[in-house]
Amino acid sequence: MAKIPIKSKDEIEKMRASCKLVASLLDRVGDIIKPGISTESINTFIHNETLKAGATPSTLNYKGYTKSTCVSINDVICHGIPSPFEFLKSGDIVNVDVSCYLNGFHGDSSRMYFVGGREACSKDAQKLVDTTFDALMVGVEAVKPGAKVGDIGASIQEFIESTGLGYGIVREYTGHGVGRNFHEAPQVLHFGKHGTGDLLKPGMTFTIEPMINAGGHETVLSKVDGWTVRTKDKSLSAQWEHTVLVTESGVEILTR
Ligand code: MF3
Ligand code: CO
Repeated sequence: MAKIPIKSKDEIEKMRASCKLVASLLDRVGDIIKPGISTESINTFIHNETLKAGATPSTLNYKGYTKSTCVSINDVICHGIPSPFEFLKSGDIVNVDVSCYLNGFHGDSSRMYFVGGREACSKDAQKLVDTTFDALMVGVEAVKPGAKVGDIGASIQEFIESTGLGYGIVREYTGHGVGRNFHEAPQVLHFGKHGTGDLLKPGMTFTIEPMINAGGHETVLSKVDGWTVRTKDKSLSAQWEHTVLVTESGVEILTR
């Protein structure tokens, strides 16, 4: 297992700045999400506003990915590639995933949006989106010095199972350390066992980003583009993501 970087005070300030930028972009992108817009126009907005802020999009040219954000609609779990030929429609649920590199540090966060407003979406979609947000927060609350990385996933799994809704927790895609590198140690699973994995210490920064399917947990990776991940059973999927810091007393959400 790779060593988990501990960020200094100065490094944490830089993480705060990149994470604040990500949060403000996610705030503002909410205003342009409307029926009829293309996913490419979301990408253009994120791309231009990131550059204006003096940052660069972390995903751009990352492992051959050519866009500045991921936009994942309905049964797309994650890594939806923005396209000028794909349009949002009323009743869709959509995840926008934004990551920025600023002054040597990355920030990473994603949120769900209801296209056409909450009431335009089915009750089942609303329940999935809300429950997935709650799952993220349950994971965040498990973070404190002395806890183990595995406590995060175990808490999320317990919560999802306790709802009795039969949702599937995606296993192949995980949270991750974030800092000087877009992806670094530790890997943060969204399921698992309490008391397993690395010890959490003040100064660690990582994402928690549960992907929850209304149906089964199984995923299918697009053979067409090599990126888009969909639910195998075509059920809806939701995801919320924060970058968090382990503090002396607990946890701080950096991408709020
Ligand atoms: N926020 C995503 C992550 O947590 C972004 C990765 S998209 C990629 O890793 F296309 F750049 F891989
Ligand atoms: Co991430």
